Amino acid sequence: MQQLLRATTVALVAFSLAQAQAQTATNKPNIVIVATGGTIAGAGATTANSATYQAAKVPVDKLIAGIPELNNVANVRGEQAFQIASESFTNEKLLQLGKRISALAKDPAVDGVVITHGTDTLEETSFFLNLVVHTDKPIVVVGSMRPGTAMSADGMLNLYNAVVLAGTPSARGKGVLVAMNDDILTGRDAAKRTNIKTSAFSSGWGPLGMVVENQAYWFRAPVKRHTMNSEFDIDTLTSLPEVAIVYGSGNMTPELYDAAVKAGAKAIINAGTGNGSVPNYLVDTLKRIRASGVQIVRSSRIADGFVIRNSEQPDDKYDWVVAHDLNPQKAKILAALALTRSNSTSELQRVFWEY
Ligand code: DGL
Repeated sequence: MQQLLRATTVALVAFSLAQAQAQTATNKPNIVIVATGGTIAGAGATTANSATYQAAKVPVDKLIAGIPELNNVANVRGEQAFQIASESFTNEKLLQLGKRISALAKDPAVDGVVITHGTDTLEETSFFLNLVVHTDKPIVVVGSMRPGTAMSADGMLNLYNAVVLAGTPSARGKGVLVAMNDDILTGRDAAKRTNIKTSAFSSGWGPLGMVVENQAYWFRAPVKRHTMNSEFDIDTLTSLPEVAIVYGSGNMTPELYDAAVKAGAKAIINAGTGNGSVPNYLVDTLKRIRASGVQIVRSSRIADGFVIRNSEQPDDKYDWVVAHDLNPQKAKILAALALTRSNSTSELQRVFWEY
């Protein structure tokens, strides 16, 4: 009698668990994982290869199959947009990816989108999407610092957390997010600041929160314009103007700037030293280039802080723009977008204050 009672109890518990799972299947968010390549899709020769490996090898369906736990938190399907290392992204690929993400965001059957991406230029892509995709649905960009073949690989949990975040209602309306190493960063602020650690990504202004065991914890929200509140729209963009970055150091070469103009740059991001400083022997070169119609944007090679207008240089007098807190590679993205709408210095500066 006792055995029958125990067997019946076990059967009832199993049935109610299955029922609960069946019930939640319909309540689970529909998440699309758009894969582009990178280390998260990488493979090394041995489990000890955490830094030497080939990026962009594992297809998205294999990435998803490798994390069966994803089925507990979302209805997931994958798309393979590209299979490249992210240093090979181009403006054309940014536009192509942005248009696909925009189309997915418009699909009522899609609740959120995750983009797997190499970490080298992940910050440019996340900032670009933050500026051009008009949706309040969660768009989460994720990568990894170790290939899935390595001991203590970080890709599985990063991708799992990104899917959890993309399916989290409180993540709506916060712009494009980056989920790395348990942190939730804004697509605007996230930057790769170390080249071989799982804690590579951070923001000078700190994370928005964390994802821990299926739960997003928020501690602040973005204040800059993004997504639904952006004047830039991927659906109307067909190309991006060329923008060059010149990296500041001692003993600079003025010819580098002229070479950038000759190559078609419509703006030059000067990754200056300190507070966006320009050497005294370069000022005339930059003033001449500005007078030719090419915009000059003062950024800094320093990771944190922000360039102060009219401090190191009389920007008003020289008709230059300051990049505010944006690092040179993000300033390049924003300058290119701003130039699709205006070549006015005051308009560009407004854009750098607002986004
Ligand atoms: N080649 C680099 C890239 O695809 C690998 C770095 C990574 O993805 O973590 O961005």
